[in-house]
Amino acid sequence: MNSKPHKHKAALITGASEGIGYELAGIMAADGWDLILTARREEILQDLAKDLREKHGIEVFVIPCDLSKPDATDDLFRKVHEFKPCVNALINNAGFGMIGYFKDADSDRINEMLNLNIISLVSLTRLFIPEMTRKGMGWIMNVGSVAGFVPAPYFATYSASKAFVNNFSDALACELDGTGITVTCLAPGPTRTGFGRVAGYKKAKREQPGALDAYPVAKLGYDGMLQGKRMVITGGFNQGLVRIIKLLPRQTVVNLTGSVMKKRIP
Ligand SMILES: NC(=O)c1ccc[n+]([C@@H]2O[C@H](COP(=O)([O-])OP(=O)(O)OC[C@H]3O[C@@H](n4cnc5c(N)ncnc54)[C@H](OP(=O)(O)O)[C@@H]3O)[C@@H](O)[C@H]2O)c1
Repeated sequence: MNSKPHKHKAALITGASEGIGYELAGIMAADGWDLILTARREEILQDLAKDLREKHGIEVFVIPCDLSKPDATDDLFRKVHEFKPCVNALINNAGFGMIGYFKDADSDRINEMLNLNIISLVSLTRLFIPEMTRKGMGWIMNVGSVAGFVPAPYFATYSASKAFVNNFSDALACELDGTGITVTCLAPGPTRTGFGRVAGYKKAKREQPGALDAYPVAKLGYDGMLQGKRMVITGGFNQGLVRIIKLLPRQTVVNLTGSVMKKRIP
């Protein structure tokens, strides 16, 4: 088999400056994808781009962008085409969470989160589907979450935003069946990234069960995407958890989740 099976195919990865997106960039570069990397922290992206160009001989373009801002996705879409006429893979990974009581949460921050986790993801997906359709080929990966399978008290807006991503992705995958475009929802459980810091988690004495490093999570997502899987839940623990969640009465799940998440409030 060709050692670079995706040579000259192009992928856009959002949230590539840290965590799962950063690891996805390395994994896809090693498979020969040309990359367009976006996030707000340009310096980290430029360092990563330089490293990936040198190691893998691919093209990497950096477009710094705050995807929570209105019109950011239109602007990003236009800039992407200054580098590449067609994007074959769209990796909607950028996202963040907020721990705490909804009644105390900052309204602007809530809007920022919903704009990033939901609106920008939908908007980019809608923008890139036509060119994938013309080619009769495309890969879309949306990063949802195990948290999207549960209504999570003290993480209410985040878990609801990921329920949107999980459901939207599954529905869209069905609509696009037979077009050559696949949609994969990567639903990680706890993953060792910058996520907890940004979400404002209290430092826990014990790590969350089922926690994984960002690399295996990214690899599972990428492999699942290439296999055309619709849903990739990371790790045996998290897969078991989702099965149990579906069996238990909803109220029990909400109460149990609330008691776990409450401990995460600083
Ligand atoms: N870690 C977990 O436990 C976990 C579990 C389930 C799901 N997830 C999901 O996995 C995805 C990746 O998160 P992660 O765990 O890798 O967290 P992370 O290490 O904090 O990375 C988040 C990425 O999103 C980017 N980002 C944040 N705000 C942005 C904005 N306004 N505009 C553009 N980019 C922005 C960040 O870059 P800049 O700060 O440079 O903009 C960073 O590259 C998210 O969708 C998250 O919800 C994570």
